[in-house]
Amino acid sequence: MELLKGKPVAQRLYQEIKEKFSHLKPHVAIVVATKDESSLTYLRSKVRRMNKYGIEVEVLQLDENIPQEQFLNHIRRLNDEESIDGIFVEMPLPPQIDPYAVASTICPKKDIEGISPWNLGKIYYGREEIAPSTASAVIQILEHYKVEIKGKRAVVMGRSVVVGKPVAMMLTNRHATTTVIHSRTPNPEEITRQADILVVAIGRAKHVKRHMVKEGAVIVDVGINVVGDSIVGDVDCEDVRDVASAITPVPGGVGTVTTAITLYRAFYMKWLREKGEL
Ligand SMILES: NC(=O)c1ccc[n+]([C@@H]2O[C@H](COP(=O)([O-])OP(=O)(O)OC[C@H]3O[C@@H](n4cnc5c(N)ncnc54)[C@H](OP(=O)(O)O)[C@@H]3O)[C@@H](O)[C@H]2O)c1
Repeated sequence: MELLKGKPVAQRLYQEIKEKFSHLKPHVAIVVATKDESSLTYLRSKVRRMNKYGIEVEVLQLDENIPQEQFLNHIRRLNDEESIDGIFVEMPLPPQIDPYAVASTICPKKDIEGISPWNLGKIYYGREEIAPSTASAVIQILEHYKVEIKGKRAVVMGRSVVVGKPVAMMLTNRHATTTVIHSRTPNPEEITRQADILVVAIGRAKHVKRHMVKEGAVIVDVGINVVGDSIVGDVDCEDVRDVASAITPVPGGVGTVTTAITLYRAFYMKWLREKGEL
């Protein structure tokens, strides 16, 4: 079973940043409303990485109990600020904040993560430049490793707005015949066993076992689950070893590419804005 590692895909993106965008210095705002230490640790490492590549970052730390309207007003202000090129909103949001309200308030031209209804809707037209970073990462991995998508049977497990649904549309745009499975799908293994390409984004540690996988399938494991001291995917990698032909590792697969795409986007969107194309 081949390991479809994220590193070479990410390296290509970092290389492109250096070659094409080194003259740019994007300015990104990150809005965060959590006190959760593990989320903040992750955020700090993200900021360090962005700084390393020359992205100027402003972190807007808001109170966890902030009312929705105030939260949205911060985003509106960032939308209007000429010096800000991109806006991130850290997930998960506190319960009083509606994710749709947030996504639809972010100006699509500053929506680095591709979560606004405008950028998501464009995927239906095959315009995927600002698709959600994780969904783009799935596709970029498949394309980098030259996995044939056209005419293949693709199954996507998970229907979240930022992963499952856009991935399914993007596979369909590339002429796969795509089925989406969710938590209410009866007998999912009958469907997953037909998949030439199986994308799993459900947030259930090692849920996918060999009896769910077609012989020779290519699996993209999007899951990131903390189990004890380690991080595991949604697929039981060891169990499917003899049946799948290839799989993305966790860690070191989709997550690695998602990070690179996010950084790439900060430059790409500034570049488009400077050319007047955004
Ligand atoms: N690698 C990365 O860069 C990256 C980025 C984002 C997320 N992730 C990871 O990817 C996973 C999914 O993230 P998400 O944001 O899409 O999660 P999410 O919003 O919680 O959505 C999970 C989806 O999985 C479905 N589901 C749950 N159990 C299932 C089952 N047994 N069989 C089939 N479908 C099932 C749910 O169905 P219902 O709709 O019916 O509830 C839902 O649609 C998580 O582990 C997350 O940490 C990784």
